[in-house]
Amino acid sequence: MLQKSPPADPHSDLVHLPHTPLPDYYKSGDAAERERFLRTTFDDTAVDYDRLERILGLGTGSWYRRQALLRAGLKPGMDVVDVGMGTGLVSREILHVTGEPARLVGVDPSPGMMGQARLPAEVRCREGRAEAMPLPDASADFIVMGYALRHIADFSAACTEFRRVLRPGGTLLILEITRPEGRLATALLKAYMRGAVPLMARLVSRARATPMLWRYYWDTIEACVPPAEVLRTLAGCGLQAAERYVELGIFSEYRARG
Ligand SMILES: C[S@@+](CC[C@H](N)C(=O)[O-])C[C@H]1O[C@@H](n2cnc3c(N)ncnc32)[C@H](O)[C@@H]1O
Repeated sequence: MLQKSPPADPHSDLVHLPHTPLPDYYKSGDAAERERFLRTTFDDTAVDYDRLERILGLGTGSWYRRQALLRAGLKPGMDVVDVGMGTGLVSREILHVTGEPARLVGVDPSPGMMGQARLPAEVRCREGRAEAMPLPDASADFIVMGYALRHIADFSAACTEFRRVLRPGGTLLILEITRPEGRLATALLKAYMRGAVPLMARLVSRARATPMLWRYYWDTIEACVPPAEVLRTLAGCGLQAAERYVELGIFSEYRARG
């Protein structure tokens, strides 16, 4: 399914926090506490991330990541930025396509996650956030952010940064899991993600916080702003031709041009 961006409306609010606050995890409205919670959680659970991702298939695996990159037009010869690179699962697929580690930069606020990345030494890993990327203007042909949208504090600021760092005509790809449309599909996915996944995480993880991370994962999906608002914000921040392509009703690929 392909969904186009509604026309940019200068009078409507753009998305800042991508989901309603979740007071079970941090004090509502306290941005600094939310940021600390996320940083500590990802640092503490990094050791389990790749194994759980493989077992549960929630990040939809390396095959899906590569297909999404190809669908968005990733090619050899491009300078690429992987935002929210985590343990490098998207970066590895980027390198399968481009084969040029020196032209890839990863950005993530969690040194613990980046420390688990098994990537060639020429890949530059920069500690930073989507909302303030440690990169020069017009330095990337392709920016991808995989499964980090729900974790950023200010989506509009991130979109403005994507536009600044992209060369004119460059591509932005955001991968995210979104709630399915029907009630039954939502209930089934919720039962899997809120019940089975944390249970399996308890069985196989080494870090104590890992089951909580996977509960949080679903809670952020459930509380996330609808896709139309993501598209409106991309367009409202000056990105061109924003659209959403959806696989299996839940795997959203937001694409736009600088
Ligand atoms: C679920 S992991 C996704 C990792 C990887 N992209 C993947 O596909 O598996 C989310 C990552 O987003 C990072 N993150 C959290 N807040 C962020 C922000 N403000 N800007 C960029 N990345 C952020 C986390 O540290 C974490 O590594």
